[in-house]
Amino acid sequence: MDAYEKVTGALRYGADRLPPGTAHAVFAVATVGKGRLLSVDTGAAAAVPGVRLVLTRVDIESAGFLLGGGYAFQSLQPLTSDQIAYRGQPIALVVADDLVAANEAAALVSARYETAPVAVEIDAPGAEVVVQSEVLPDLHDISVGDGEAAYAASPVRIDREYDLPQQHPLPMELVASVVEWQGDKLVIHEGTQNSSAIQNGVAKQLAVPADRVDVISPSVGGGFGQKNSLQPHIGPVAVAARQLGRPVKIVLSRSQTFHAASFRPASRHRVRIGADTDGRLLAAIHDIDQQTSRHDYFPAMYSELTARLYDISNFHSRQRLVRTDVQTPGYMRAPYESPATFAFESTIDEVAYAVRKDPVALRLANDTAVDPVTGHPFSSRFLADCLRRGAKRFGWADRSFAPGSMRGRDGSLIGWGVAAGAYKGAAAPATARLRLVPTRSGYEATIWVDGHEMGQGIRTAINRLVADDLGLRSDRIAIGVGDTRGVPPQHLTAGSWGTATALPAVHAALKKLRAQLGLGPRGRLPPGLGETVVQARTQAPGQPEAIHERAALGLPAGGGPEYPNFTSFSFVAHFVEVRVETTTRRVRVPRVVSVVDCGRVASPTTAASQVRGGVVWGLGASLRERSEVDPRFGGFLNTSLEEYPVPVNADIGHIDVGFVNKPDPRLNAVGVKGLGEVCMVGVAAAAASAVFHATGRRIRHLPMRLEDLV
Ligand code: MOS
Repeated sequence: MDAYEKVTGALRYGADRLPPGTAHAVFAVATVGKGRLLSVDTGAAAAVPGVRLVLTRVDIESAGFLLGGGYAFQSLQPLTSDQIAYRGQPIALVVADDLVAANEAAALVSARYETAPVAVEIDAPGAEVVVQSEVLPDLHDISVGDGEAAYAASPVRIDREYDLPQQHPLPMELVASVVEWQGDKLVIHEGTQNSSAIQNGVAKQLAVPADRVDVISPSVGGGFGQKNSLQPHIGPVAVAARQLGRPVKIVLSRSQTFHAASFRPASRHRVRIGADTDGRLLAAIHDIDQQTSRHDYFPAMYSELTARLYDISNFHSRQRLVRTDVQTPGYMRAPYESPATFAFESTIDEVAYAVRKDPVALRLANDTAVDPVTGHPFSSRFLADCLRRGAKRFGWADRSFAPGSMRGRDGSLIGWGVAAGAYKGAAAPATARLRLVPTRSGYEATIWVDGHEMGQGIRTAINRLVADDLGLRSDRIAIGVGDTRGVPPQHLTAGSWGTATALPAVHAALKKLRAQLGLGPRGRLPPGLGETVVQARTQAPGQPEAIHERAALGLPAGGGPEYPNFTSFSFVAHFVEVRVETTTRRVRVPRVVSVVDCGRVASPTTAASQVRGGVVWGLGASLRERSEVDPRFGGFLNTSLEEYPVPVNADIGHIDVGFVNKPDPRLNAVGVKGLGEVCMVGVAAAAASAVFHATGRRIRHLPMRLEDLV
């Protein structure tokens, strides 16, 4: 629906809209990693021509942490106290007539601090380790059977440790807003995955009723979890806009985004897997340490997936949090699943080599139709199909088992690796409003539904459903998402539940429309129908009706992967070919085959694109991405696209995407499961097993770089 506008640059994102008289805001930020602000000198900044306002304090409340009952990516709201919790924390907001003046003035803000030592890495002195189940009692660790005893008794035991780095999403659309008061109404234009959280969060911060806040976010230029809640600039910018009586625009620089928005925390995984000599998996123990901030507990939920990848009846996991001096980390695409599978699937590959069994055959032999954690069936599970089809498409049968045994014509070492992945089948409450209007040539439909377009093509998926059902041309269907004005709540779109949440609600509205008009369950619309409006709402299986009240308050309300009688996951198998140059040890990836079980494929074109995007990101995680920190002074160092390398077109070879495409009628009436995140899960593990197959070397950290292979 919106591809043409996207690729031609015509699409307007949140902060592209500039009302007349807009002023420009820029943050000045803390230059120390931790401590107390003694004084801020704003004299030089205020003297820059064009500067209208310099705020060092704002009288607003914290909107609370998204995972602690609040609305913001962290509970700490800058400019509300003298506490400095991390390097790069805003200490002043400068507003000027133009961006040049605002930038110049922000650079002239200086401050005096009382400093304290920082701990920004998991092992740093002063980093405080807490047991998650003790500080977040709702998140009990997963334990099935007796992991320790079964592991100790296993004939084959692999015990490995893996280090996963901090990483930042680098969305094309920077974190940005245009904030405008229209009388006593606050209008926020912003690229967000969660318009309702911003609406309710800002209302709480400013002590105004939520119905006086509109959030408009029809398109997001990349969310990935970083844009899942209230960003810390919005409250102060709203205060500035009110004081000045002008709209104010802020665009965080790429560098500031590394500190003013959430990131993927560092994590360390110890994986122990026990098997018999035929490769039957007997036990697994997955222990994780994950970084969080001092002021919030960003939970670790890595073993939610690894406990379910295979039929392992003795599983244990313990998750700990490490409090460090950073902004609160957060979700970044496949937030737990990508690191968790790197560790777990790499260990599975080692089991396969220890028992001399083909890695695909070993996985097939340990498949399960039943969730080992709950004993319930999976809503659907076609992981074996993904593995078999992927192996066939890839030509896996031609692989020779021994590492270092395959060579290219140019002498390069060829490695073929495989890994499985999964991502919870989540779903959330949603409300859909459908309006059918007769026109001269037929009908037009407008659909409003919970959801945000952040590149995945949600409008296309919705459009196809409506077009197929009503027999309308796609250009006769308008879709409203991401906008809080006069429509259903715009609940958080995350956790890969966008399609599996919006489509069932739209489906229910279509059914209601047909019932109300006395039409059969199928068939084109007869002529002569009048204007009709229906509204329907759905929620995840087993969720109570009251969940809609929670969603309407802008609070997270997603469900899954455990439902009353089943467990739901999407599945994927990735096959990766690497070529390692013999002299430079540079790793190239000429081809990847990925086969996904995401239930019914709602929109084949956009779905395949999502998978390619996930694979590209997985290769970035494998070979490129790491946010470097300065252990002495705190903060992140490589805060630009220049120094935080991501894959470019020249790095990416052929990505062959396949779908099982079997509807999952248990999760919802449309039969769709999630897709956006699962397609990244397991790519890094497959790449690492390919590097091992090429070179005989196991790399147990990411990214895998030249220096690991020389
Ligand atoms: Mo996703 S990482 O839940 O936006």
